Amino acid sequence: MQKVLVAGLLLLVGLVGILAWYYFDMNQEDDQIRIGVTIYQMEDPFIAQIPLYIEKIAKEHEKADGVRIYVDTVDATGNQNLQNDQVVQFLERDFDVLCVNMVDRTAAGSIIDKAKQANVPVVFFNREPVAEDMQRWDKLYYVCSLASESGVLEGNIVVDAYRAQPERWDKNGDGKLQYVLLEGEQGHQDSLIRTEVTIKTITDAGIPLEKLDGDTADWQRAQVGVMMAQWLETYGDEIELIISNNDNMALGAIDTYQEAGITELPMIVGIDAIAPALDAVEAGTLTGTVLNDAKGQAQAIFDLAYGLAQGQDPVEQHEILENRYVWIPHQPVTKENVKEIRKFLQ
Ligand code: BGC
Ligand code: CA
Repeated sequence: MQKVLVAGLLLLVGLVGILAWYYFDMNQEDDQIRIGVTIYQMEDPFIAQIPLYIEKIAKEHEKADGVRIYVDTVDATGNQNLQNDQVVQFLERDFDVLCVNMVDRTAAGSIIDKAKQANVPVVFFNREPVAEDMQRWDKLYYVCSLASESGVLEGNIVVDAYRAQPERWDKNGDGKLQYVLLEGEQGHQDSLIRTEVTIKTITDAGIPLEKLDGDTADWQRAQVGVMMAQWLETYGDEIELIISNNDNMALGAIDTYQEAGITELPMIVGIDAIAPALDAVEAGTLTGTVLNDAKGQAQAIFDLAYGLAQGQDPVEQHEILENRYVWIPHQPVTKENVKEIRKFLQ
């Protein structure tokens, strides 16, 4: 009997809690700005930085301007259907603006239609909706960094490092760099363009390349392991250069060499400048990376969202807006400037 009473009481407390939460949620103060953020996959260490920066910037704004800003970040865990539901919920809960990092960048249409119907603007970022979707409504924006620019900078790091020590990197002395390629997710705007431009930048500078092998590891460190171990077994010392579409996979390649007990690494380059990659640059295992400026991107996403939530027209507010697109510049990162980059990101 007593147990039943206790259970009943607990149930009641739970119900009251849920009701109270709904009550407060529905009766949010009118002056509160509500920003809903959905992330394609929070396990991705590059992307995980962005909502953290957005929340930090929002807090600073709250303090400075005395406005109340509520940022709610949800993880779509790589599931497009789940992300569509998250968007519906944000709209039902009267959010003022949505910031969307698409799971499947070709599937933005239904999210756009729902947002348009509710008249809630959307700031997309990092995973670019196709141009036709971006034309569906004029309250759609996109924040990212240009893939081609990161490719040029990644290529230049290889060119500079090679020119500084050609004998160190061209181990077989044939005047070419034999390389393997680690590609990001197929269909992601950054994968194909980075690969193409990085390679073109190196060969245009007069350094011939020879591809030994290459494959996609979907941006993921853990997916590199088996593939890289296989290449190491097949090509061993012939691998003089590893070109990776991002840092996470470059770190996966370094893991493989370290697990094999090999201390003399080939030249390895990545893109993003995530914290463990900056450590690797400092340690000399990663020759260089390119800052994919998560902090700058978060600032642009926040500025757009904040203005839109207050009914402002960002085209008048933002000099950096190019036809509803914002491109945040990259920076090259090597041992020489890694400390400055760390400071820049704080
Ligand atoms: C980053 C990758 C990341 C991807 C996620 C790219 O811009 O370089 O590290 O996994 O975005 O969409
Ligand atoms: Ca060579």
